[in-house]
Amino acid sequence: MAPVPLQRTFARSFGRHLVAALLLLLIGLMVLCSSELVPKRVSLQGKLNYKDAHVRDIWTLVQLGTGVVYKLPGQPLDSPGYPVPPASIVTLDCTPDPKMPTNCTKISRAEVSRVVAPVARVGTDMKLRLLVMVVSYMASSSCGARAGANVANLRYAYTGDLGYMNFLRNCSYGQVTYSNVTVISTRVLCTGFLDQCDEESIALNARTSATNQYGPAFMSSYSRFTYVLPYGLLSACGWVGLAELSGTQTWYTPDGDGVFNKGTVLQESLHNFGIYHGWRNGSEYQDNSTAMGLGNSCPSAPELRRLGWALPLAQLNRSTLATRTFKAFMLPATYATSDGNMIRIQPNWLLSKAYKNAGTCTWRCA
Ligand SMILES: *[C@@H]1O[C@H](CO)[C@@H](O)[C@H](O)[C@H]1NC(C)=O
Ligand SMILES: *[C@@H]1O[C@H](CO)[C@@H](O)[C@H](O)[C@H]1NC(C)=O
Ligand SMILES: *[C@@H]1O[C@H](CO)[C@@H](O)[C@H](O)[C@H]1NC(C)=O
Ligand SMILES: *[C@@H]1O[C@H](CO)[C@@H](O)[C@H](O)[C@H]1NC(C)=O
Ligand SMILES: *[C@@H]1O[C@H](CO)[C@@H](O)[C@H](O)[C@H]1NC(C)=O
Ligand SMILES: *[C@@H]1O[C@H](CO)[C@@H](O)[C@H](O)[C@H]1NC(C)=O
Repeated sequence: MAPVPLQRTFARSFGRHLVAALLLLLIGLMVLCSSELVPKRVSLQGKLNYKDAHVRDIWTLVQLGTGVVYKLPGQPLDSPGYPVPPASIVTLDCTPDPKMPTNCTKISRAEVSRVVAPVARVGTDMKLRLLVMVVSYMASSSCGARAGANVANLRYAYTGDLGYMNFLRNCSYGQVTYSNVTVISTRVLCTGFLDQCDEESIALNARTSATNQYGPAFMSSYSRFTYVLPYGLLSACGWVGLAELSGTQTWYTPDGDGVFNKGTVLQESLHNFGIYHGWRNGSEYQDNSTAMGLGNSCPSAPELRRLGWALPLAQLNRSTLATRTFKAFMLPATYATSDGNMIRIQPNWLLSKAYKNAGTCTWRCA
């Protein structure tokens, strides 16, 4: 298999897909019936979603009310010219592609109606109910069958002693746990979109198939949804993991870089909580001390603080650390406790140009 670099990627949202499919059909018919040559602009309101598929940026807008997903040519800019952050509720004008009405070839007049804070404080005692759908494709007139991952192996990867359930419990100091992880096999009929790794189609088809099999009450009893892709789609996808950046859904390839890699699985799960990638010295992903980079370990201290899973022992800055004074701290290891396991340093005695970020000091045993 062609080696695809270890990439874990993020973002995206889901809507009411059946409504979306019907609406798409309707819009499609409307376009067929109209013979207009100049594309008309339409005004849309919805949630802005961003997926970093590394080789390309994917910006979409999920329309409020209908859940229709519109592809955008890039990140929208607001009227002063600032990029609109992902997860914002935005109103914009879209010039649809005449051949594909949910594809905006141009966007303008973006206005943010609600900015969603990029950092989610998860808080304590959060119980997740996760449904893992192991997707396989059945052959159709448009494409061939593709086998799915082994369901028993996957169940073990989540529920085994060293599995992802215990890993999340450990990393969150018991504050976020899975109360139920159910792994099911989900067969869908192959379509061109599915074979091109269109993650929205994969999610829609898998959920429809699972609903037919287990009923709507079963589906709505879950709060998180994971799709494990069939084999052979790695090069079509160009990623090994994908997540809504703030959301409930994650997607993985069925291999050792994807769903069978605990760092990838933790990274995508934390994107659902609104946590971004780990950087090192200006390079994305290069922080190997955390799953948010390319590590297989729990979140770093700043990430733990953002998640609300751990608190600083002290915050040192110009007002709390006077010049020419000493202070001593007993810093416990990060794994030992969530309470006071880091020292946060804000060097605001430096000129504002040199002071961009606060630093944190921790004691970790790898
Ligand atoms: C959608 O539009 C983009 C340009 O914004 C274009 O590159 C892409 O091929 C279009 N996709 C489809 C399915 O029409
Ligand atoms: C969770 O922590 C316990 C106690 O430190 C450790 O024995 C176990 O291996 C950890 N499990 C995982 C999956 O990290
Ligand atoms: C998880 O939830 C499903 C659906 O509600 C239920 O059928 C299953 O028994 C539960 N499994 C566990 C281990 O609690
Ligand atoms: C950080 O990046 C700069 C510029 O890209 C490079 O010169 C420097 O060697 C890097 N430092 C480390 C520790 O990797
Ligand atoms: C981080 O890990 C990756 C893959 O294991 C490796 O290629 C990279 O060089 C490491 N980066 C640093 C800064 O250690
Ligand atoms: C400095 O730290 C103290 C607490 O340690 C905090 O209340 C204060 O807001 C900090 N100052 C700045 C400028 O953030």
